[in-house]
Amino acid sequence: MLNTFRSTVQFRRFSLDPVDWRLRKMVSIEECRKIAKRRLPGGVFDYIDGAAEDERTAGRNVSSFSRIEFKPRVLRDVSTLDTSTTIFGRPASMPLILSPTGYTRIANSQGELAVARAAERAGIPYSLSTMGTRSIEEVAEVSAGEKWFQVYTWRDRGLVQELVERAKASGYTTLWLTVDTAVLGRRERDVRRGFSLPPKIGLDTLFDGAVHPGWTWDFLRNDPIMFANVVGHGDHEDGQNPIDLAAHVGSQFDQALSWHDIDWLRTFWDGPIVLKGIQTVADAKQAVAMGVQGIGLSNHGGRQLDDAPSPIELVEPVRQEIADQATIICDGGVRRGSDIVKAIALGADAVSVGRPYLYALGAAGERGVDHVLEFLRDGFERTMALTGCRSVAEIDRDLVRWRTEPFT
Ligand SMILES: Cc1cc2nc3c(=O)[nH]c(=O)nc-3n(C[C@H](O)[C@H](O)[C@H](O)COP(=O)(O)O)c2cc1C
Repeated sequence: MLNTFRSTVQFRRFSLDPVDWRLRKMVSIEECRKIAKRRLPGGVFDYIDGAAEDERTAGRNVSSFSRIEFKPRVLRDVSTLDTSTTIFGRPASMPLILSPTGYTRIANSQGELAVARAAERAGIPYSLSTMGTRSIEEVAEVSAGEKWFQVYTWRDRGLVQELVERAKASGYTTLWLTVDTAVLGRRERDVRRGFSLPPKIGLDTLFDGAVHPGWTWDFLRNDPIMFANVVGHGDHEDGQNPIDLAAHVGSQFDQALSWHDIDWLRTFWDGPIVLKGIQTVADAKQAVAMGVQGIGLSNHGGRQLDDAPSPIELVEPVRQEIADQATIICDGGVRRGSDIVKAIALGADAVSVGRPYLYALGAAGERGVDHVLEFLRDGFERTMALTGCRSVAEIDRDLVRWRTEPFT
């Protein structure tokens, strides 16, 4: 009996490390989100997780992937798989990019540095936001990996030019120009809380901080969070004092941004430009006509215009319209490796993710980000094996059908 017991009962290696325990529970992005929700103060979690108005777009970004089904091929010898690809001619271990997110250190004090290091280890591009809480140079110092920089066009064009030139000098290779933020979307979770960046310290935040001691200890023990790229720039709030994000965007961002500004950007940036926030076939076509190299199909994770189209639903019509004239990146709602296969099959060159790595950072710090990137890589590889694709090039339109399409 003892032998039977020994041969059937196996305990996992015991660990005293609380991060190990959390990582074991992070078996999916959704589980990771739940852990982040438990560990982060409510206002911080809502800033990350929340979206515009009724949050329908944020929900549909994710659920649209479930409208796509695989047509798996079998008996294809998938003993050797190659997940690697190139994005703008530069190698990546898989077709995944980390999207830019502002104020990343709010999830964990290591913020952008942790995410950039994890991206380098995973062999994929990391994107730093203009609204980042570590500077262009600080990120470049810790990561020799592929780095992209995201710009918003501030009214102060001199500042935009300076940021782009700093990014170029620090070895960033690609520019995202975010074009969906003429004004800030109405994020009602933040409106309800009167949320500011950094969070204003009031009775409610004090209470929230007290019941989330792990986050609070990390926040208090480390250097203050600020918009590291604009520190010392006159009237540009640098994030040391609480700001209302909507008012900030309204006063600093240029609502007059138009197609002509792309030519202006090109006068001091000669690398690839990806327009982040393209939401129609017509705009994708116009971008290509203007010589833009990258189409970022994105609705800002549903944080701007509610009832905007899901990026995954735009991939195929945009690819049909522009053929091979530009790189297509599907940004938003990717939660599994299988979602990456679906986007590639419909015609994307790569996908990008925001919240998945922020949840990971909030749930388990830098190791959490490693864990989530490995989860996505593993899911991508497994789906390739189960659908009979040995390389990214073999992932084609025949591999998927919209559930409304007839079987062929
Ligand atoms: C907390 C947070 C902050 C963001 N900050 C920025 C930003 O500064 N610039 C930008 O272009 N997009 C920003 N985004 C949008 C992301 O780049 C990306 O488009 C979005 O997160 C993709 O959707 P997903 O979260 O479903 O992956 C942010 C998203 C989140 C969740």
